[in-house]
Amino acid sequence: AMAKHQRFREAHELTAKLYNYILMNTDAGVQALNYLENRGISRKTMVDFRLGFAPKTNNTVVSFLRKRGFQDEELVACGLAVEMGTGLVDRFRGRVMVPICDKKGQVIAFGGRTMDAKVKPKYLNSPEYDLFHKSRLLYNYHDARKLIRQGRVALLLEGYMDVISLAQAGVLHGVATLGTSLTEEQAALLKTDCDKTIVAYDGDAAGRKATVRAIDILLGAGIEPLILQIPDGQDPDEYVQANGGEAFGRLMQRRTLSVVQFLLDDMRQQANLTSSVGRTAFVRDALQLLAKRATPVEQEYEMRNLSQEFNLSVETLKEELRGFAKLNK
Ligand code: CTP
Ligand code: MN
Ligand code: MN
Ligand code: MN
Ligand code: MN
Repeated sequence: AMAKHQRFREAHELTAKLYNYILMNTDAGVQALNYLENRGISRKTMVDFRLGFAPKTNNTVVSFLRKRGFQDEELVACGLAVEMGTGLVDRFRGRVMVPICDKKGQVIAFGGRTMDAKVKPKYLNSPEYDLFHKSRLLYNYHDARKLIRQGRVALLLEGYMDVISLAQAGVLHGVATLGTSLTEEQAALLKTDCDKTIVAYDGDAAGRKATVRAIDILLGAGIEPLILQIPDGQDPDEYVQANGGEAFGRLMQRRTLSVVQFLLDDMRQQANLTSSVGRTAFVRDALQLLAKRATPVEQEYEMRNLSQEFNLSVETLKEELRGFAKLNK
């Protein structure tokens, strides 16, 4: 099995080099090079992240790896090729390629992005196989790990481009769950290196939902979550390309929320504060949340805010909160 796995790694390493060469040095790669440059990605970043291009042709990788002694069965088993009626075909065609590394920094899979908005899926990833289990790895973990250990804090992102653009802007502790929600295995991995994790998922509705789920997974692993909401519904890539790394650093300094603050904010966005029934319901839900999750200091602080906003005495709020606290026991 080990020899087999080593062959899969070699096939991916060679393919990553080929894709990168095609992107950076050939006519076939020009369109992809322009695409990445238009997205603000520098040549240095393309080299650092080993980005590439898989040409539109049917069997560039298949014939390249056959020449280097790989068997057709091996190429199918590790997801680089697929069986078609007529024979073997490259899995990735006409896509910008992002190598995905394992914990040791060896390429074991790819994500391939279409440059054509009409083509679905937007990202085609390697299939799960012996070495690639999406739920057990984090994108860029190998490279970010040292920094995460130093600061005892990780930055959790949604996608490839978030990690890459932030790194280019000097924010180097980003890792990504590849579109799926955070798993217990991934949180356990993070726990070996950090005590806190900043969750900076996309600022859209899906991102908020995923954040709520990630919070409980992180807490379950003994990690303190801090939540960074990107303004204007942007994702971290869009934000940092528009505003720069220093602005992102300021966001992390000034706009990260505690779990309680984020959940209150989330509750507020879903509440109907224009009706008195809605306001009462919101205050009740907020106190319930505080009773369940907040420290005494947070409780006091948030109750003062609620008291001012809803013109209720702190005494009344405290009394209701005490009722919820009893229920939790
Ligand atoms: N993803 C995926 N398959 C898809 C869509 C998304 O695997 N069809 C994963 C990718 O890892 C992607 C992440 O989910 O990076 C986040 O998705 P999304 O926010 O839609 O993409 P972006 O990372 O913002 O991609 P881009 O900026 O290139 O549009
Ligand atoms: Mn690497
Ligand atoms: Mn998204
Ligand atoms: Mn996104
Ligand atoms: Mn994006």
